[in-house]
Amino acid sequence: MTSERSEALFARASAVTPGGVNSPVRAFRAVGGTPRFIRSASGPRLVDVDGREYVDLVGSWGPMLVGHAHPEVSAAVRGALARGTSYGAPTEAEVQLAEEIVARTPVEQVRLVSSGTEATMSAIRLARGFTGRDVVVKFAGCYHGHVDALLASAGSGLTTLAVPGTAGVPETATALTRVLRYNDRDAVAEVFAEEGDRIACVITEAAAGNMGVIPPEPGFNQLLAQTCAQHGALFVSDEVMTGFRASRRGQWGLDGALEGWVPDLMTFGKVMGGGFPAAAFGGREDVMAMLSPVGPVYQAGTLSGNPIAATAGLATLRLATDEVYARITTAGDAIKDAADKALSDAGVPHAVQSAGTMFSVFFTGGPVRDYDAAQRQDTAAYAAFFHAMLDRGVYLPPSAYEAWFVSSAHDDAAVQTVLDALPAAAAAAREAARA
Ligand SMILES: Cc1ncc(COP(=O)(O)O)c(C=O)c1O
Repeated sequence: MTSERSEALFARASAVTPGGVNSPVRAFRAVGGTPRFIRSASGPRLVDVDGREYVDLVGSWGPMLVGHAHPEVSAAVRGALARGTSYGAPTEAEVQLAEEIVARTPVEQVRLVSSGTEATMSAIRLARGFTGRDVVVKFAGCYHGHVDALLASAGSGLTTLAVPGTAGVPETATALTRVLRYNDRDAVAEVFAEEGDRIACVITEAAAGNMGVIPPEPGFNQLLAQTCAQHGALFVSDEVMTGFRASRRGQWGLDGALEGWVPDLMTFGKVMGGGFPAAAFGGREDVMAMLSPVGPVYQAGTLSGNPIAATAGLATLRLATDEVYARITTAGDAIKDAADKALSDAGVPHAVQSAGTMFSVFFTGGPVRDYDAAQRQDTAAYAAFFHAMLDRGVYLPPSAYEAWFVSSAHDDAAVQTVLDALPAAAAAAREAARA
């Protein structure tokens, strides 16, 4: 089957939208070829406009924890739609979603927004307002959305496009940002020794997922929390990707609960929106009390807490039971093991890494513990692997730097499609690596 309709749509899209897409990595530039335009999705599968079906391992980049068009989420959304789409006034759905987040995570209060970018941007403003300090510390390869101050050495799309920062962000916007190597304890000690009394916050992905999946080394997040506490800075744990994905309680539930640290602020997105634009930031009550209208730190949004998004997010979180995470673990483990074996059999250097139920496959020998190591990937080998999988009905992220996302709707048949495709894709990667 050809990709005629996708190609025609891509030509039309490219005429009216830069690069033909509304978010860069969708353009397939890192892997070549034409992006597939999607017509519909159900459970673990996508169908493109040419009628081709794929087992989806992107899951809208994380939100689709229970699969596409889950009947209960769809029914809840239909019910909400019939009552109107936005009021610009508070609703019960927002309260319920906030209560659900507070119940599952250590945050005491939460504010809903519409994107992960807004959540991290607002969390940083709040940290600066609360501490009265300006400097923000982040880690190379961690992506926190397209917030000016955080677009210094961010992973994901920027890595994929090999852009060292981005045009359009003035030096003054990142002048107060310090970028450290991920998992580097000495660098943390050094930056606090040098300017600890100027640091408003450290922000980190709770487990890095935007340079491929790199879990924090045991005790690393704990060290960040403790160091921040010692110096009067706030520890901001970005769980936009990991939240309600890495585990029922996000990455915090995996290492925070174990190691006994609690972030001062957390950010959420993706799963908590159930496929709609919803995100949140939350944390300690005394910190959140600095937020407008209670406190002096301004933050607002026309569509914040949108009733349809809140309903979809709530329905998704209510479905996200232990059984859901158990199914994702089983399906994910089968895919990880088979990918590992196929690439080993083909002699392709690789590393499979996980953070809870989140995982990715690096096309370089492991272990990968930071951004420099992640950048040693053979992206040409990944591109060949990606296209071989696509040709066999598996939709992987069109970039070597992304996590692979499995849902609880990935049944044995869907997993088998992936397993069947892997040996030939690994062989294609081997050929590309040789070339
Ligand atoms: C960890 C993390 N933080 C923030 C963001 C930004 O979220 P959004 O794309 O909804 O603005 C992302 C998006 O991938 C993310 O992975």
